[in-house]
Amino acid sequence: SPALPLRIDAAPLEAAREAAVRLIAAGGLVALPSETVYGLCADARSDTAVARLYAAKGRPSTNPLIVHVADLAGAEAVAAFTEPARRLAAAFWPGPLTIVLPRRAEGGISDAACAGGPTIAVRVPEPALFRAVAGDVGAVVAPSANRSGRVSATSADAVVEELDGRIDLVVDGGPSPIGVESTVIDMTGAPRLLRPGAIAEDALSAVVGPLAGATVGAASDAGPTGPLRSPGLLASHYAPRARLRLDVAADEVRPDEAWLALGEATSPARPEWTYRLSPSSDLREAARRLYHGLRALDATGAAVIAVSPIPAIGIGAAIRDRLGRAAAPRPAPSELSTEPQKAT
Ligand code: TXA
Ligand code: MG
Repeated sequence: SPALPLRIDAAPLEAAREAAVRLIAAGGLVALPSETVYGLCADARSDTAVARLYAAKGRPSTNPLIVHVADLAGAEAVAAFTEPARRLAAAFWPGPLTIVLPRRAEGGISDAACAGGPTIAVRVPEPALFRAVAGDVGAVVAPSANRSGRVSATSADAVVEELDGRIDLVVDGGPSPIGVESTVIDMTGAPRLLRPGAIAEDALSAVVGPLAGATVGAASDAGPTGPLRSPGLLASHYAPRARLRLDVAADEVRPDEAWLALGEATSPARPEWTYRLSPSSDLREAARRLYHGLRALDATGAAVIAVSPIPAIGIGAAIRDRLGRAAAPRPAPSELSTEPQKAT
C-alpha cells in the first residue's frame, strides 16, 4: 500500500483520531496539537515505542516524559494521588498543568518513560482529539515535538522542520493556543513548582497553599536523576541556533542583532529583523508567538537575537524561564546526545 502522508488535518476529528491511534498502537510516533505546544506521542506502556521516541528527539534517557491520559481516572491508574493533587486536577484539568506524583507500578507505564525513577508526571490535555487518542491508546507519553534542547514546535510546520524523517505522522491543528509548555508541579512532597507555565503560581497556591522554595527549574534540565537540579543553574534548552541576549531595549540593540520585541517599537539597528511578540504588550499573545518568533529570527541568519525586557507577571514568568534557558551556555556539539538512548 502507498506510504501514509506525513501530515494530515486535525479535522474531521474521527479521521485524525483513527489514523493517530492506529500508528501509536503499532509502536509509531505521532505529533499531535495540544493547547500548549505540539506533543510527540508514543504508547506509554511500550518500551520499544518509548525508546524510539527518545532516539527520535535525541533526548537523554535521564530526562523523564509526561504521561498524557484522557481523564483523572486514567491518571489515578498510573499515579498515586493525594487529596491536594486531586484538588489540582479538579481545578485545572483538562488543561496546561502537569502533576508529579509517586508512580504506581501496576499502572504498567514503561520504566524508560519515567527515566527509571519512582515518580511520574501526568497531564490531561485540553484538545478533544488529544484526549480521545490518549483514551484509546490508554496512556501516551508526549514530550514537546522538537529535537532535544531546541525550540519547541507550536505549528505543524515547525514539527516538520524539527522531526521530518524521524516520525510517522503530524496532525495539523493550527497554531498552539498557549504557546509555552505546561506548568509542572511536584506533589510528591510539599508542593513545589518545577516549571512555570500558563497556570501561574498564585493560581496553584490558591488550591494547595504556598509552594515550597523557589522555582528550581528541575523539570527543564536533566530531570530528577540528572546532575543539573541545583537552584539557579540554567541548563541550555529551548535554544535557537543564534545566541540570545536578554533584557535589551530598542536603543540598545546592536547593528548585527535581530530583536524579539514586546510592544510597538522597532529596532533602529535593523528594522526588518524585528519580530513583535505583542504590539500591545499582552503577555498571553507574547507567549503564543514566542517560539515562532525565535524560529523566524533564527531564519534571518542573525548571530544574536536580542530580547526585550519581559515582566515576570502571570505567563511572563514562563516566557522569562524559557528565554533564560535558551540564553544559557550550551554544551559543545560533541556533548549533545544524538545517539539513540538505551531503554532499560
Ligand atoms: O505542555 C507540555 O507539557 C508539553 C505538551 C506536549 O504536553 N510537553 C512537554 O514535555 O513539555 P517535555 O518532555 O518537553 O517536558 C516535560 C518536562 C521535562 O522537563 C521533564 O524533566 C519533566 O517534565 N518531568 C517529566 N517527568 C518528571 C518527573 N517524574 N519528575 C520531575 N520532572 C519530570
Ligand atoms: Mg520540551
